[in-house]
Amino acid sequence: MRALIISVLLGLVVDVTRGSWSIQPIPQYPSVRGSVTLSPTGINENIVSVTWFKGTDTIPPNQILVYITAQSTTIQGNVYSSRFSAFSPGSLQITDLLLTDQGEYTAKMQTKETTKDVRVTLTVHEPVTKPKITASTPQPKENEPLTLTCVTSHAVTITWTRRGTSISSGAKLSEDHKTLTFSSITRGDSGEYQCGAQNPVSKDFSEPYAVSVLYGPDEARIEGEVFVRPGSSITLTCSADSFPPPEFQWKVNDTDTGAKTSKYGVNNAETEDQGLYTCVVRNPVTLRTATAAVYINMTAEFIPPRNGYSLGLILGFAIILAVVLIIIGSVFICRKFMRKRLNESPDNEPDPVPVYENVKAGQPSEDPAYMGLQFRYEETYTELKV
Ligand SMILES: *[C@@H]1O[C@H](CO)[C@@H](O)[C@H](O)[C@H]1NC(C)=O
Ligand SMILES: *[C@@H]1O[C@H](CO)[C@@H](O)[C@H](O)[C@H]1NC(C)=O
Repeated sequence: MRALIISVLLGLVVDVTRGSWSIQPIPQYPSVRGSVTLSPTGINENIVSVTWFKGTDTIPPNQILVYITAQSTTIQGNVYSSRFSAFSPGSLQITDLLLTDQGEYTAKMQTKETTKDVRVTLTVHEPVTKPKITASTPQPKENEPLTLTCVTSHAVTITWTRRGTSISSGAKLSEDHKTLTFSSITRGDSGEYQCGAQNPVSKDFSEPYAVSVLYGPDEARIEGEVFVRPGSSITLTCSADSFPPPEFQWKVNDTDTGAKTSKYGVNNAETEDQGLYTCVVRNPVTLRTATAAVYINMTAEFIPPRNGYSLGLILGFAIILAVVLIIIGSVFICRKFMRKRLNESPDNEPDPVPVYENVKAGQPSEDPAYMGLQFRYEETYTELKV
């Protein structure tokens, strides 16, 4: 009984050993026009000869070649071609692979003890074709759908990337990753997209595809001074966020001026130039428009500029300061003069000191005077603004 079990076990062990005879393709993923070596492995007995067959039937019409190990000789079979060759200890090399080389191969291996058929299935991979991105619409408008398709063959995996940044989470990939769909594209989705295709034998990427979402203008803005003195000029600049960049139209009191640029100006403006200045911006592709308007008030009244100091104001204050300094200087000289005339003692110190302090509190050296000018100017400016 025990002997039987042992022999069964031994048989199993032998079977397992024999079962590990196999043939490995090298490389693991051969490609069209490449080559492959079908290499027997796990054989620990000396191989006398190997007969290779295309297919599973080990019949002469399917015979590729016979390799006799001892002499390293090859005997050509019925389906032999120059693309086949054999190597020790019985490997079959196929060069210049064709798709028709795919399928099963059988190696009939002869050792001193036994003969065994070992099979292998050969898969020949085709490199991926260079991917190309196509779009459902060449010029997507904001909030409309867009589908990008990666056109490629023989890919096992397809990946999508966007240059410089990630693809928005609103975009959905199809199950096979061939399409990327934006159900409602936004201006932020504009950018350069690329798809990559890969299989075990190759990898390639598409050229970048530029998605330029058409949008805007949502609103228009006019910049420029609205209070203009007769004789000076009206200078207005209109802007709007839009792709492609907007076209401009300027109207004054609802009459088209014919101007077509972002800037509009009137040199040497007169009182009659007062009125409502309107800028109409238009997206040249979507034809969507937006409007902004300002009322230009021609006024003879002095209106302080919004930024910076007016030269007139600074001059005015400089004159006032000069006058104040002259007055203080005169008072100082007068006092000294009077003191001399009264013939007071020169050792009498308490008198000159309060005089000096007085001057300091008023407008003495340069720095405090400058600060005083700024302060007073701002006060006046605030009054004017109000
Ligand atoms: C616009 O209309 C106002 C008043 O309706 C008028 O005073 C002004 O001269 C007009 N401006 C132009 C440039 O026609
Ligand atoms: C122009 O501006 C002056 C000063 O602010 C104002 O008194 C006048 O009403 C304005 N004119 C118009 C037509 O808005």
